[in-house]
Amino acid sequence: MANILCIGAGYVGGPTMVVIAKHCPQHRVVVVDTNAERIAAWQSDRLPIYEPGLDEAVRVARGRNLFFSTDVNRHIAEADIIFVSVNTGTKTFGQGAGKAADLQFWEKSARQILEHSTTSKIVVEKSTLPVRTAEAMEYILNARGTQGVHFDIISNPEFLAEGSAIGDLERPDRVLIGGRDTPSGRQAVQTMMDIYANWVPAERILTTNLWSSELSKLTANAFLAQRISSINAISALCERTEADVAEVAHAIGMDSRIGSRFLQASVGFGGSCFRKDILNLVYLCEHYNLPEVAAYWEQVIKMNDYQQSRFVSNMVSAMFNTVAGKRIALFGAAFKANTGDTRESPALEICRELLAEHAAVVLTDPHALENARVDLGDAAKRVTFEPDPYAAARDAHAIAILTEWRQFAELDYEAIFKDMIKPAFIFDGRNILNHRRLHELGFNVYAVGKAPLTHFGTSNSGSGI
Ligand code: UDX
Ligand code: UDX
Repeated sequence: MANILCIGAGYVGGPTMVVIAKHCPQHRVVVVDTNAERIAAWQSDRLPIYEPGLDEAVRVARGRNLFFSTDVNRHIAEADIIFVSVNTGTKTFGQGAGKAADLQFWEKSARQILEHSTTSKIVVEKSTLPVRTAEAMEYILNARGTQGVHFDIISNPEFLAEGSAIGDLERPDRVLIGGRDTPSGRQAVQTMMDIYANWVPAERILTTNLWSSELSKLTANAFLAQRISSINAISALCERTEADVAEVAHAIGMDSRIGSRFLQASVGFGGSCFRKDILNLVYLCEHYNLPEVAAYWEQVIKMNDYQQSRFVSNMVSAMFNTVAGKRIALFGAAFKANTGDTRESPALEICRELLAEHAAVVLTDPHALENARVDLGDAAKRVTFEPDPYAAARDAHAIAILTEWRQFAELDYEAIFKDMIKPAFIFDGRNILNHRRLHELGFNVYAVGKAPLTHFGTSNSGSGI
């Protein structure tokens, strides 16, 4: 039996520990966080994050061998294995501002671990970190040289995606464990393998050196984001040429070397990871004097920014070059479906850009309105938040689909059309609607990477998204 601790009860730390506790009843799992409100929510019936299947998994383990607490120091002292899953956002100040990872919480956690440990421990990097962070952590943790207290650092990056976190944790494509090739390092790697072996098949548990493990996480996210930027770049060309991006994606995706996933053209990728991790990769390349490599990856971000502003420009140009004073219903605030998370959501960026055009923006989302209000900051005052999509679209000039919630594809668009100002526009930023049918209902339909379906003459129909 081991005492497992996780510092950071966020989108990564929370679900990961829930699944470990569920499958390892022999171990005691405690999740701590400095945010008392968050811990109280984890202890309640209303969990702090929305994730399909999470409530059920929490019910299995909470109170049995899974506990949530704010008493970080006490639980550090008791732990054998400490996962650190605190936020490692992009630095906003000083050297590397806007690109480098902000490691202050990680280092603070390491120092706290050092201060309260009287026994040897395995410290696991769960947060995504720059390559070679483990080296600094090893140095800090083992600096004091307290007799009989030794720390082994393990890199064990998390690959879960929000919205499918529980499935991803239950049936991971792989679990990656990076460690040192020393007797105690190998022992630490084995301890980690034994934990995951409780539910993950052995052939899916990979071990590497520490640096490969750290870099694999950044690389995986960079590759995934790059596919989205690549298909989005092609979507712009499709709109000019009457090629259809969905047909192109399907045709190339059938090539088994390319594969069909992550080829959905969209308003751009969001979420707390892709942008931050690529910026981190870019910074690392610059640091190691590899400017060409840095510029290559930076282009993935630039293309994503372009896709979002291109979407807004196309809306404005389709709506007779002005949206000032026009009610526009934004369907979706979350950065993707099945999550309430709005961090780096393209929906919020588009919302801000439309506010700058003086549009009257109404935002609707089944799970993300609370977070949207917080993340929009001051701009929230100028937005109407409306949980009912029918009410949001009433008297609107346009609807823009910004999150691929299944609910949005299942609405009664005939009824919605009747209540809108005419001509009525619909901009499908996720390509989830039946465009031909919407056109038949009377909408002017603009989808990403497709020729517009309008009721105007050809001059306008060629200009849109
Ligand atoms: C975070 C990082 O953003 C990501 O890079 C990493 O891979 C995993 O951890 P996420 O779980 O989505 O991802 O972040 P967040 O939901 O912000 O959770 C971090 C938690 O750590 C917060 O609840 C915060 O209160 C807590 N925290 C932060 C501490 O408990 N102590 C600290 O010193 C700092
Ligand atoms: C991502 C990685 O997938 C995950 O492995 C890592 O641990 C964290 O970062 P996440 O950000 O939660 O996960 O969601 P993901 O499903 O990757 O989607 C990211 C963004 O890309 C979303 O905004 C999504 O809508 C968008 N996307 C995804 C597309 O625009 N097109 C696609 O084909 C796929």
